[in-house]
Amino acid sequence: MGLATIEGQTHELPSKDGYFGEYGGQQLPPQLVEIMNEISESYEKLIRTDAFQIELDSLNKDFIGRPSPIFYARRLTEKIGGARIFLKREDLNHTGAHKINHCLGEALLAKHMGKTKVLAETGAGQHGVALATACALIGIECEIHMGQVDVEKEAPNVTKMRILGCKLITVTRGTRTLKDAVDSVFEEYLKDPVNYFYAIGSVIFKASWDLEGGALPDAIVACGGGGCNARGIFTAFLEDPEVQLIGVEPAGRGLETSDHAATMTLGVKGSIHGMNCYNLQDETGEPLPVYSIASGLDYPGVGPQHCLLKDIGRTKYVAVTDQECLDAFMQLSRVEGIIPALESAHAVAYATKLAVEIGPGKTILVNLSGRGDKDADFVANRLQL
Ligand SMILES: Cc1ncc(COP(=O)(O)O)c(C=O)c1O
Repeated sequence: MGLATIEGQTHELPSKDGYFGEYGGQQLPPQLVEIMNEISESYEKLIRTDAFQIELDSLNKDFIGRPSPIFYARRLTEKIGGARIFLKREDLNHTGAHKINHCLGEALLAKHMGKTKVLAETGAGQHGVALATACALIGIECEIHMGQVDVEKEAPNVTKMRILGCKLITVTRGTRTLKDAVDSVFEEYLKDPVNYFYAIGSVIFKASWDLEGGALPDAIVACGGGGCNARGIFTAFLEDPEVQLIGVEPAGRGLETSDHAATMTLGVKGSIHGMNCYNLQDETGEPLPVYSIASGLDYPGVGPQHCLLKDIGRTKYVAVTDQECLDAFMQLSRVEGIIPALESAHAVAYATKLAVEIGPGKTILVNLSGRGDKDADFVANRLQL
């Protein structure tokens, strides 16, 4: 995240022990402390080598297809009648979402460190497919844990993971969704952390905005589950205060119900999976069951960078419902010929409202984090198409 000014003082973030202000940190079991230090040191060394940078650059270009283009959604803009809407096409990346950006680096690091197996959880299956893909490419074993609800809902991604040769563990505990998958994979990781590599990770990529004769967009809109795609695109504009940065959370069946995952909007400061962040939790501090139509967004915590950015007022978080998401999913499909992931459709839904609010003459850049192949059957059944 680089430098940030908090209460008049400039800080390098994250701090050496992984804090973003009061958020983040590493609440680690003692047996992991040394192993995590080793991973950090190997990473720092590896990214400074020319060989690694050359390999990563060439894979980004020829394997993933980066940089992803920015597309002016002309027909959508005309239909909405407000600010112009542009789409950052992460959906065009190989494997169909932003997740491959960090999975490739993580798989390379794991191989470089001589690890024997890479493990991860997945919600919508996009992270799972991306990691299984990277592991197939690099030649390392891969194991993915996924909640039973998501296994049933995201069948195309489950099939892809199997074809790619990864071991898929269906998690049947708790709400059988993303949070339970994280708990389950962490237990597996602890069985042999010396040889295993847990690829939860965050994304690091830059959005290059070279349209509009260099004039910056007025707002960036990205959906937020754990927060990695929003973090990626926000990073490119953090130092441009005139650009509004907006994260869109799932309001599910409504913020007045308990069926949502609006962590930033309704959460409190707490701790989950070893880090401090905003949380949806009960009075004893236990994570609440969360829900969204988009499996990749139903997580009761959020990345610590977002918590700090919210507190210092640099970012804003809003929530849209399942119904608004479905409407945006259908609208983008039929007006632009782009079927978005249900996660990304949350961002599209909010952008269309914002476009009317801020009006013509302004521009909005939406991070279209993924494509909707995985969701097509689910939506078609639900809407009886
Ligand atoms: C396409 C897509 N967008 C967004 C997300 C949410 O994750 P994050 O907020 O970490 O980007 C997911 C998670 O599975 C996803 O598949």
